[in-house]
Amino acid sequence: MGWYKNAVFYEVYIRAFADGNGDGHGDFRGLTEKLDYFQELGVDCLWLLPMYPSPLRDDGYDVSDFYGIHPDYGTLEDFKAFLAAAHARGLRVIADLVLNHTSDQHPWFQAARADRHSPFRDYYVWSDTDQRYRQARIIFLDTETSNWAWDPVAGQYYWHRFYAFQPDLNFDNPAVQAEMLNVIAFWLDLGLDGFRVDAVPYLFEREGTNCENLPETHAYLKRIRRLVNERYPDRILLAEANQWPHDLRPYFGNGDDEFHMAFHFPLMPRIFMALRQADHQPIVRIMQAMPPIPEACQWCTFLRNHDELTLEMVTEEERQWMWREYAPEPRMRLNLGIRRRLAPLLDGDRRKIELAYALLFALPGSPILCYGDEIGMGDNIWLDDRDGLRTPMQWNDGLNAGFSSAPAEALYLPVIDDERFGYRRVNVAAQRADPGSLWHALRRLIAVRKAQPVFGGSCCEFIESDNPTILAVRRTDSGETILALHNLSGLPQRLSLDLSRWQGARPRDLFSQEALAQIGAMPYALTLQPYAYRWLRLEQTTDDWLEADGHPRRDL
Ligand code: GLC
Repeated sequence: MGWYKNAVFYEVYIRAFADGNGDGHGDFRGLTEKLDYFQELGVDCLWLLPMYPSPLRDDGYDVSDFYGIHPDYGTLEDFKAFLAAAHARGLRVIADLVLNHTSDQHPWFQAARADRHSPFRDYYVWSDTDQRYRQARIIFLDTETSNWAWDPVAGQYYWHRFYAFQPDLNFDNPAVQAEMLNVIAFWLDLGLDGFRVDAVPYLFEREGTNCENLPETHAYLKRIRRLVNERYPDRILLAEANQWPHDLRPYFGNGDDEFHMAFHFPLMPRIFMALRQADHQPIVRIMQAMPPIPEACQWCTFLRNHDELTLEMVTEEERQWMWREYAPEPRMRLNLGIRRRLAPLLDGDRRKIELAYALLFALPGSPILCYGDEIGMGDNIWLDDRDGLRTPMQWNDGLNAGFSSAPAEALYLPVIDDERFGYRRVNVAAQRADPGSLWHALRRLIAVRKAQPVFGGSCCEFIESDNPTILAVRRTDSGETILALHNLSGLPQRLSLDLSRWQGARPRDLFSQEALAQIGAMPYALTLQPYAYRWLRLEQTTDDWLEADGHPRRDL
C-alpha cells in the first residue's frame, strides 16, 4: 500500500509558520526548528504553499522563477537543509507546483510581451480579441471581469484563468510542456516527495468548451505521471481540481497513469451542511454519488485550507443556505466562498470542531489539516483577499504569539488578537499543557486513526439507523471492521442499529478501550452525547461472522 493511502497531511504556509531570522516573515529556518512539533502531533507529510521567487500578488501562486526559493524564505541551501531534517525524522514533504500560469513578472512573460517574434511569445495564450473561449467561467469573480487582459506592450490580449497578473501558460506549445517537466524533475531530484499540483483543470483551452478537464489536459498530466513513475517511484502527485464527482474521477486515470491523490472538494462543504442541519444526508448522498477510484489512489480530505471555503461544488440553493448560515456578514464572503477559519465557523464550539475532525478522519481518504486549525485559531475577515486565513501561527501568549522576534509592525500580517480566538487565549503552548485541549484531542484522533490501517482502505458503508442525526459508518479491510458513530446534533441521541450480521462480536471503543455489550440478534442500542462520536472496533468472540480464512464474510 502506498504511503499516502493512510497518511495524515499538514498544510504549511511558510510565511506564517515560524520566523527564524526575525524579519517578520516565516522562513525555512524557522520551519526547520519546528519539525519536532509535527512529529509530536503525529502528521506524516507536509504540504508547502509556493516557496518560489514571486512578486507575491497571490501569495506566491504568481511564480517568477520556478527554480529558486523566495528570498523571504531563505536560500536553496536552507530548503535542502530543511528537507534533509524533515526526512531524518521520517516526515515527507510535498510542495505546490503552479503549472497553469506564471507571474506577469516572469522573464518568459516579459520577453513574450516585448517581442512578437520572441520564442517566448508562444509560451502564453494571445489573441487580438477578447471574445474567444467565452464559455470559460471566471474564477476570481470579485476581482476579474474577463479571462482576457489587454497588454499594451504586446498589443494583444492574453488569457488568464486567475488574476490578470497571472497569465496562463500555453500548453499547446511543446516547449512549455518540456519546461514544466524540467521544473518537476529539478525539485524531485532534490528529494521532494511530490507535488500538490495547482489548478490542474485549466491547462488547455478549446473553443466551444468550458476549457476545463479537456482530454489534452489529461494527456499532459499523464506525461507528468510517466516521468514520476519512471524516475521517482514513491513520490506523489496530488490534484487540486475543484470539480464535480464525474469530472474528478478521470484525474485518477487507470490508477497508475495520472494522479495518486485528489482533493475531495465535493465532500468538504457537505460536512458543514450535515453539522448545521444535524442530518447525515448531505454526507451520505455525496459519498454515494462518488464513483469508486482505483485501488492505488486515494482522496485527500479536508475541512479548511488557505483559500476561501469554496462553494463551487454545491447547488445554487445550497450555496445561498451556506452563506446564510456560515457567512452572515457580507465581509465573510469572497468569490463563491467563505473566508473564515474552522473554529470561528463552528462557533468556537470545541465539541463541534472535534466532531468535524472525527468525521473527516472516519471517512475514506487521507486527511489534511490546515496550519493553526489544530488549535482552533481565529481569522480576521477585515484583511484583504484571503489574508485573514493566513495570519501568523499562534505558538504562545508572548510577543507576536511566539511567531517572530521582529517588532509587531514588521510582521507580514498582524497576529489574531481578538478575545475569543486571539493568541493570548488560543495558542500551542497552552493547549500542549492542557491534556483536555483540542490539540490533544486531535493528536489522539491522529494516533488512533494511524493505528488502524482499515482507514486507509476504500470500503465505506453507511449503516441505516432510525435516527438521521447519527452518521454511522462502517469501515472494513483485511478482516478488521470499525463502526464509527457520530452525533451531528446538539442533543443527546439514542440510536438503535441493526448489527445482527455481527452477532457474537464485541465492540471495543478505540478511544477509551472500553468493551461494550456483545452484539446479539436484537437491534443494538446506544446513546451518544451532544456532538459526540464513538469509534468501535468489532472484536470477534465467535467465528460465525467470519469466513474460514478469517476474513469477514463477503456479504457483510
Ligand atoms: C489555487 C490556490 C489559490 C490560488 C490559485 C491560483 O486555487 O489554492 O490560492 O490563488 O490556485 O494559483
